[in-house]
Parts: sequence; C-alpha cells; structure tokens
Amino acid sequence: MVTIVGIGPGNKKFITPYALEKIKEADVLVGGKRHLKEFEDIDCEKIAINASTDYQHILNKKGNIVILASGEPSLYGITEVILKYVDKSQLEIIPGISSIQYMCAKLKITMNHLTVVSLHGRSEDLVKKVKKNEKVAVLTDNTHTPQFIAALLKEENLYDRKIYVGENLSYDSERIYSFTVEELLNSNKKFDLNVVVITCGNI
Ligand SMILES: C[S@@+](CC[C@H](N)C(=O)[O-])C[C@H]1O[C@@H](n2cnc3c(N)ncnc32)[C@H](O)[C@@H]1O
Repeated sequence: MVTIVGIGPGNKKFITPYALEKIKEADVLVGGKRHLKEFEDIDCEKIAINASTDYQHILNKKGNIVILASGEPSLYGITEVILKYVDKSQLEIIPGISSIQYMCAKLKITMNHLTVVSLHGRSEDLVKKVKKNEKVAVLTDNTHTPQFIAALLKEENLYDRKIYVGENLSYDSERIYSFTVEELLNSNKKFDLNVVVITCGNI
C-alpha cells in the first residue's frame, strides 16, 4: 500500500493526527531531506528523494510505503508524480495544510476566488492571471523569486498591486513581508522558502 501524507507547511504542529498515525505505521518513509529530518525518531527504512529519484524502484518495495509531501500533496505536489506509477486502488492520500492556506490565514484573507499559480520548477502566465484576478497566490522557487515576480508586474505597469511574501511559514524563522512593486524591486533581500500573494491594492 502507498500512502501520500500531507505534512503541512513544515512545523509538526500543523500535521493532522491521522497523518502522524500513518507515518508511525510506515515500513518505508520517503521524502525530501527537510521533511525526513522531522521524523528521525520513526524506526523504519528512510529514502530521501531528489530530482533524479527512481520512483518505480521505491514503489516496488514491500510493506507500507509512506511518502511525505509538503503542504497539501495534491496542490502542485507529489501526487501528480505518484499517480503515474500507482493504481488508485493501491493509493491513499491524506490531505495537509497547504503553505498557501497557511499564508491566507496569516494575512487574514479568505481563499474565496483565490487564484493559485505555481512557478515552482515550471512556468505559467502569471501576468495574465494577475490582470484577471484580484488575489493571486504563487508558489516560488530559487529562480522565480519575489523580485522576479515584481519585475514581471513592473513590465506590465501593474504598480497598483500589493505583494505579500510569506517566508519559512510555520517555522520559528517565519516572516511575513508586505511590499509595493517598486519596494520589492529595490529590495536586495534574499528570501528563503516562500510563497507570494499578490492583491489588487491593500488587503
Ligand atoms: C513543490 S511546491 C509544493 C506546495 C505544497 N503542495 C503546498 O501545498 O504548500 C513547493 C513550494 O511550496 C512553498 N512552500 C512550501 N512550504 C513552505 C513554507 N513553509 N513556507 C513558505 N513557502 C512554502 C514554496 O513556494 C515552495 O517552493
């Protein structure tokens, strides 16, 4: 049996009790280094994944294979990959709190009519989404940084947008920033793990 477990934004406080139960029952625990580190006390085989992981090899293993996924596994997460290898009848997915959900809670904005874009290892037409929607949340990566996003908005003269950056959400080092397009462009801060929320004016 394969179980994908959403572990929330990072801090263990935000994992559901059911997800924890499943993690404790794992024979093989699979996940990114950052996530496996949180479960050093679980006594089972651990496999760290990276860009060149052979999923077929991992999924051929015997016993309960539990795959740790950041946030909500099915929101631009590992579900997309695992579905290519595992029959749905052999798969359980346990939802988790997405980094975006967490960020909206921090900003005290609703998720009604929120548009989600992922620039994490992929490209999407963010500007088109920003022009059409009043609230856009963006998953970023090392290339698609908050400053990269501000530059895209500047190119289209979208100066009226507010940009909120949520860094290291749920961890002790969590920071929430608020910028105008111009302020973010002029900032040389190198952000750690982050999500961005773009709104039309202040929230
Ligand atoms: C592959 S995506 C997975 C998103 C995940 N499925 C979710 O629901 O949050 C990874 C991106 O999620 C965001 N992310 C995940 N955890 C985060 C955290 N604790 N703080 C800020 N951003 C986070 C970052 O934009 C990161 O590059």
